[in-house]
Amino acid sequence: SVSEWSSCCSSHYVQRSYSTSGSNPERKVAILGAAGGIGQPLSLLVKLNPLVSSISLYDIAGTPGVAADVSHINTRAKVEVYGGEEQLGKALEGSDVVIIPAGVPRKPGMTRDDLFNINAGIVKSLTTAIAKYCPNALVNMISNPVNSTVPIAAEVFKKAGTYDERKLFGVTTLDVVRAKTFYSGKGKIPVDGVNVPVVGGHAGITILPLFSQATPKANNLSDDDIKALTKRTQDGGTEVVEAKAGKGSATLSMAYAGAIFADACLKGLNGVPDIVECTFVQSNVTELPFFASKVRLGKNGVEEVLGLGPLSEYEKQGLQSLIPELKASIEKGIKFAHGN
Ligand code: NAI
Repeated sequence: SVSEWSSCCSSHYVQRSYSTSGSNPERKVAILGAAGGIGQPLSLLVKLNPLVSSISLYDIAGTPGVAADVSHINTRAKVEVYGGEEQLGKALEGSDVVIIPAGVPRKPGMTRDDLFNINAGIVKSLTTAIAKYCPNALVNMISNPVNSTVPIAAEVFKKAGTYDERKLFGVTTLDVVRAKTFYSGKGKIPVDGVNVPVVGGHAGITILPLFSQATPKANNLSDDDIKALTKRTQDGGTEVVEAKAGKGSATLSMAYAGAIFADACLKGLNGVPDIVECTFVQSNVTELPFFASKVRLGKNGVEEVLGLGPLSEYEKQGLQSLIPELKASIEKGIKFAHGN
């Protein structure tokens, strides 16, 4: 429901991050790709989270510098540093949450699907290690194309006999973050407390913000405004890719979004009630095997995949048109996992 959704307002994250940890249980968070554009600011934000007792930084190169730097911050989380494939097992052992921002980002003119060939292989090898070293961890997949990398991870886990559909998440939080920012800007309402569910997938038209369910309501928005907001949310990643002009894609806003989502996972694990975030998970909400929608998080990961709620005519059309593309991306991931 809307009230549950509102109860996990992300804007308190940073404020809360500077408060003391109290009696929170031990929680280890591993970041795979920790030295990258997303990995570095994400490591910083996770180091600030009082729910984290240990942060494991892993990359194929560059982790010692990031780890030394972040480790000087006087917060609870102990920093562990790992580099190179031979240390991946140690990096993962004992993890409660594994965040994966490893891989290559987009350049101007590229779609997320253009990243498939490189990132699919990286995700396959990292998830194979997760199945071996921390099969019970919650996996937060950031590496694109999320619409395909999540199905790849699911197939890897199934093959290893460790698949638990409650523990695999495609991180679509950045779409929600963008929808909130753009909606509050256009609607001229304070961004603090604005909520907008975003459903579907995480690429182009598969990203479907449900502005008809936005709270609080901005009253001055026309149908054309909503269309423009929808398009801007769908193209938000491309806006950043073009502005960075060849130097990568969203890293800072993505790190923020990744930190928010990991925090929600940790709260769920710790038994905090009514933690709801939109995320790309195994789903019965549509005919597709994976779909992003509001999900209630609990002690075992996904507690409940929530339905779509009432859609506007425009959103119904958007849902119809995204299904074939999302279906193809999911199938591409499954095929890759089986073929290699
Ligand atoms: P980046 O190139 O700056 O960093 C990637 C890091 O991954 C590098 O440090 C690299 O050494 C590391 N890496 C590569 N192979 C690895 C392996 N096998 N094991 C561990 N680490 C490995 O890229 P950036 O900007 O940080 O983006 C990372 C990924 O996140 C890309 O796939 C990008 O498309 C995706 N992304 C996802 C978003 C989302 O909303 N889900 C938003 C923005 C980016």
